[in-house]
Amino acid sequence: MKFDVLNPTRVVFGAGRLADLGALAKPYGSRALLVTGGGSVKRNGTFERAVASLNQAGVEVVECSGVEPNPKIGSVRKGIATALDEGCDLVVALGGGSVMDAAKVIAAGVLYEGDPWDMIFHGQPNPYIPFTALPLIAVPTLAATGSEMNCGAVISDPESQVKSFASTEALYPKLALLDPELTLSVPRDQTAYGIADLITHVTEGYFNSSAETPLQDRLAEGVILTAMQEGRKVLADGSDLAARAQIQWAATLALNGWVSSGNGGVGFPVHMLEHTVSAYHDITHAAGLTIINPAWMRFAAKARPAKFVQFAERIFALQAKGSDDLDCALEGIQRFEAFLTEIGCPTRFSQLGIDDQLFETYARETLRIVNDGQGRLPGLPPMSAAQIVDVLRDAS
Ligand code: NZQ
Ligand code: ZN
Repeated sequence: MKFDVLNPTRVVFGAGRLADLGALAKPYGSRALLVTGGGSVKRNGTFERAVASLNQAGVEVVECSGVEPNPKIGSVRKGIATALDEGCDLVVALGGGSVMDAAKVIAAGVLYEGDPWDMIFHGQPNPYIPFTALPLIAVPTLAATGSEMNCGAVISDPESQVKSFASTEALYPKLALLDPELTLSVPRDQTAYGIADLITHVTEGYFNSSAETPLQDRLAEGVILTAMQEGRKVLADGSDLAARAQIQWAATLALNGWVSSGNGGVGFPVHMLEHTVSAYHDITHAAGLTIINPAWMRFAAKARPAKFVQFAERIFALQAKGSDDLDCALEGIQRFEAFLTEIGCPTRFSQLGIDDQLFETYARETLRIVNDGQGRLPGLPPMSAAQIVDVLRDAS
């Protein structure tokens, strides 16, 4: 297997490190657009501390608040306009994945004359791939997406009912400041969703890997087992800082490219489907994942049981009769689904009040945006529209 790895984001990790934000930001600029969400950072004092640290180091702050969960392209346009009007030379994202993703596209959009929606792959013939952006510092307040150390950004357009992504080198943050103290205030449900999201990032790479990859498999299993073990601790006691720190680093590792490097991964089918469902219903990202992932696993295990048998044995200590023991594979998936239920995540569309009326539409829309050239959703195995609908029905 030949592969390249690139991750230029510098990581600064540790409880209390928010105090270093100003000194860390200063080399990158002197007038920062500080991007935040719906107000959690103001309620818990993080915003004030971030501004104080920036100001103390001589970095001026221009506020850009109100980025919503499942960030909308309108918020991105507003952020770009503010950054241009105010002459910002640096972007600081202080929030969850939604804030970080919006900040990435804002940082690139400031240096692009066209509309930022051109950067998001939504089925257009010639997406704009940004090659440059304002320097971005990502300060996650929620452990989930790994956006702080990757080059992806997921943005929604409510008008066309599309939620999709941009992914290119220019979108890597220069620096990820990971201060697990900032995640202490995350409510129980969002904490559980973060754990589920990070696990799904790893399972997507693990089950869609086309190569024999003992090292990558064990790295992935290590992240999953840690997320389950430390996740249970955090959910039992939200003030457990050591467990919060483990979850935060697990979330970063799950999608920064290291675990999956060289595994010949072919697609992120569960995420692609979730993005479409989110575009129609504006649901929490991980809630969509925890509904679709077990159903997708049941579908994929029938075609390719060995990896699911390995998952059952190594994650849930089940004993298989052989590498093609489908019963054992399915039992492992059931145990995984039970874990998701235990931590409070939905596993059926009906739990979110979503019926089967639009299943064909979700399949068609997903395939319009991402397909393998033969009308199938990339993954192992690739999925036709009919197979997508079957999986969605299995999750209803
Ligand atoms: O908006 P505020 O008021 O800050 O509240 C947020 C929001 O309501 C709250 N929150 C965040 N930090 C908190 C806090 N509440 C209390 N204390 C804190 N410290 O949590 C809620 C959810 O925030 P959000 O940013 O939407 O969550 P998440 O980090 O899960 O991000 C989800 C978005 O990221 C995309 C998803 O599709 C979704 O749009 N993803 C981005 C990826 C990437 N860039 O690599 C990969 C993922 O697979 C995912 O698709
Ligand atoms: Zn995700």
